[in-house]
Amino acid sequence: MDKFIIEGGNSLYGSVRISGAKNAALPAMAAAILTSDDVHLSGMPDLADVTTMVDLLEKMGIRTEGYKENAQDTDLQRSITINTSGINTYDAPYELVKTMRASVLVLGPLAARYGSARVSLPGGCAIGSRPIDLHLKGLAALGANVSIDHGYINIKAKKLKAAKIVFDTTTVTGTENIMMAATLAEGTTVVENAAKEPEVTSLAEQLVRMGARIKGAGTDILVIEGVHKLQGCSFDIIPDRIEAGTYIIAAAASGGEVEITNCNPRHLDALLFKIKEAGISYTETDSSITVKREKQSRIRSVSIKTMPYPNFPTDLQAQFMTLMTQGDNTSVITETIFENRLMHVGELRRMGADIRVEGNIAIVKGKTGLMGAPIMATDLRASASLVIAGLIADGRTEVSRIYHLDRGYEIMEKKLSSIGARVKRVKE
Ligand code: EPZ
Repeated sequence: MDKFIIEGGNSLYGSVRISGAKNAALPAMAAAILTSDDVHLSGMPDLADVTTMVDLLEKMGIRTEGYKENAQDTDLQRSITINTSGINTYDAPYELVKTMRASVLVLGPLAARYGSARVSLPGGCAIGSRPIDLHLKGLAALGANVSIDHGYINIKAKKLKAAKIVFDTTTVTGTENIMMAATLAEGTTVVENAAKEPEVTSLAEQLVRMGARIKGAGTDILVIEGVHKLQGCSFDIIPDRIEAGTYIIAAAASGGEVEITNCNPRHLDALLFKIKEAGISYTETDSSITVKREKQSRIRSVSIKTMPYPNFPTDLQAQFMTLMTQGDNTSVITETIFENRLMHVGELRRMGADIRVEGNIAIVKGKTGLMGAPIMATDLRASASLVIAGLIADGRTEVSRIYHLDRGYEIMEKKLSSIGARVKRVKE
């Protein structure tokens, strides 16, 4: 396993380019199951989770080209062509699903196209139990026969039939699964309390390009008129707003001047509002954000509450908490999406942060000088918060188990080093 060695204290200067969004690439790949034509995706990120999805598709007999062949070339803007005509099994085995729960995104497309799927239940993960009951209720509402045995979900469906589906809670991949399934169902499906994340809207755009009839993307009511067949398409993966937000926060915390390019500022309004409230200045163009802060300047403590898009994203909560350890007062951070997404608090406290947890609320007292320490990553975004802590801590920080990072951040040590951070990746 690899770890990061970080020498803290440097301000960051330069430009960092954002990669394609993990949470857009994964559903985009699953959507290829809905057609026997080629689906060509460009702007793909080089991430462990994407490789896992390639492995899952290939295990089902689906042909992919272009992604793994270019694995060594770090500067290439990756693309992939997926063709599912050779599919020979509808199984998503436990050993793949347990490493990446987003494998459940094959459920909806398999049910719609083949009327059959056998997908391992994803189980919980570090940040919470993360049930998929809403996915399964939605598929059952569309007429699928859903059963669970020996840890596997079995789906059987002659032909999916449209339905009105109301999600009890907003679910991103649940919305994506049901939207994909409904594209080939008979009749017109209405999904209420649908997720509005940009990755959901992007998937809707891709499906429409494949011939689907979808209205309401980006709102909480989706209307999907089923069609008989979908065609292939070429589609560009949107930039990763969470990666972009992570670098915005890293620049704000470290001080300096960093331009974050190939991003969409409109996907980051909730974060940018809080960055401004914290007294940190930034400028933006339609595809970049530049953060500029004098190292000793004051950071105002601000409070956040994570909510579904367009509110403050849960995937930036841990990173923002690190920034708030440098605030000038007290910040209250409330996590409402996942029941166990405050695990980074323990590691930040070991570095000297003054944080108290009460249920799903963290009370962060600033300004505390952080001290470098050996720390361990626990989940993808917590890892990012610990790396940012290492960038601003006094002395050396070793972040172990950074395979968590590699799932969602493309060559983070190279991107950080290119803007002046002292980060290197070593074998543990
Ligand atoms: C997606 O996960 C993202 N993953 C997550 O990103 C992100 O944190 C999350 O949305 C919230 O924004 C991908 O898109 C691949 P949810 P998802 O279903 O879809 C409950 C990252 O770091 N729920 O929106 O799994 C659930 O327990 C990852 O990139 C049910 O109760 O999240 C949670 O409390 C982490 N039943 C809430 O809804 C269900 O059937 C939101 O979960 C489904 C969800």
